[in-house]
Amino acid sequence: MNSPPSPPVEPISDAVARLYNTYPFPPEPILDQPPPGYNWRWYWPTAYSFCTGAKPLEEAVRVLDAGCGTGVSTEYLGHLNPRAQVLGIDLSQQALATAQERCRRSGAGNVQFRHLSIYDLSQLDQPFDWINCVGVLHHMPDPVLGLQTLAQQLAPGGILHGFVYAAMGRWEISLMQRAIALVQGDRRGDYQDGVRVGRQIFASLPEENRLKQRERDRWALENQRDECFADMYVHPQEIDYNIETLFELIDAAGLRFMGFSNPRVWQLERLLGSDPDLLQRAQQLSPWEQYRLIELLDPEITHFEWFLAKPPLPHYDWSQDEALLAALVERNPCMEGWPSSSIFDHNYQFVKLSSVAIEVLAACDRAQAAAPITVAQLLGQSSVTLEDIRQLQRQQLILLQPPRSFS
Ligand SMILES: C[S@@+](CC[C@H](N)C(=O)[O-])C[C@H]1O[C@@H](n2cnc3c(N)ncnc32)[C@H](O)[C@@H]1O
Repeated sequence: MNSPPSPPVEPISDAVARLYNTYPFPPEPILDQPPPGYNWRWYWPTAYSFCTGAKPLEEAVRVLDAGCGTGVSTEYLGHLNPRAQVLGIDLSQQALATAQERCRRSGAGNVQFRHLSIYDLSQLDQPFDWINCVGVLHHMPDPVLGLQTLAQQLAPGGILHGFVYAAMGRWEISLMQRAIALVQGDRRGDYQDGVRVGRQIFASLPEENRLKQRERDRWALENQRDECFADMYVHPQEIDYNIETLFELIDAAGLRFMGFSNPRVWQLERLLGSDPDLLQRAQQLSPWEQYRLIELLDPEITHFEWFLAKPPLPHYDWSQDEALLAALVERNPCMEGWPSSSIFDHNYQFVKLSSVAIEVLAACDRAQAAAPITVAQLLGQSSVTLEDIRQLQRQQLILLQPPRSFS
């Protein structure tokens, strides 16, 4: 007896586009004004400074927001970098329509959108100085090819900010994804049905159930929105990473790892700081092993976010006094609450500023209004030391720029 013909299999990218046409993501409201606050990962001077140690000389850069969704990041990229030209691309027409409307309403005039897959980026002729690709690669059927394609589109000296899911911290999510798919059976791929089934399962599970607890404690607030619930639990394509597979992905793209863009998470002190002997022993491990140890010890880590670069990229360590004295210095605008002795820093962390920090930031502001100030000039006006300047730069409270003759 012949078996009945199987139904045609929907290509994965079509299924992904259909999910985001049903539930465009992220479902942030559209405002009639520029978005509030900042995100230093979307501000070219701080992103570049994180990777190189110095503010870039050029601000009229080409930026790609790859898999821009409804354009929340694209809108920030446009407003925070008014001299840049920003292109947002996505598979989902619905998401792009929202993105376009968002940027039109807030007046982000330097932003354009295109319905284009990352796989097809070679159609574009000019490379990008900066690529943002957040929450996208792990939804591609071939993330290695995806990242390789992005790497090809990056100009030499360009940087890429990426974000993919971490398997360990998403264990309960992955169990629920599989449970929903099992109950859905051949209705899998009907995303509205998936959301209904998922909500029913959560409602019926006992209060102390671990999946339910995790949803309640960590995700419930955002998952009130069906768009977020669907993105989390009924996705047709998701590949989660661990430290090992993450670095395999990065290595395959031939780009250089510049660091996690949430560096605090990757400090051993956070987990082992109460035992100096143990901490010292763990610090003997290679950087890669230290990351692996942190991943194993902290199952709260639900994603990886990082900067990559395409060589050659300059590096400024400011250890030479002469170079530091000649550098131009300015206050990092990614802070909230300034002028004040307590601020939220670039990471929205509460920081009590030292009197030295206040003196430097105020001097930067005074100078900025007239002409850029060098570190040497700043030191000539105050009791600040070169070590203070280095410390403020490491804290990202100030940005340094080599004088043009240094570049
Ligand atoms: C989780 S959303 C992230 C949206 C946005 N980057 C953000 O972080 O707010 C993933 C987006 O990637 C898009 N996407 C997935 N595969 C893609 C591909 N091959 N090319 C372009 N966009 C893609 C989806 O359509 C969706 O809008």
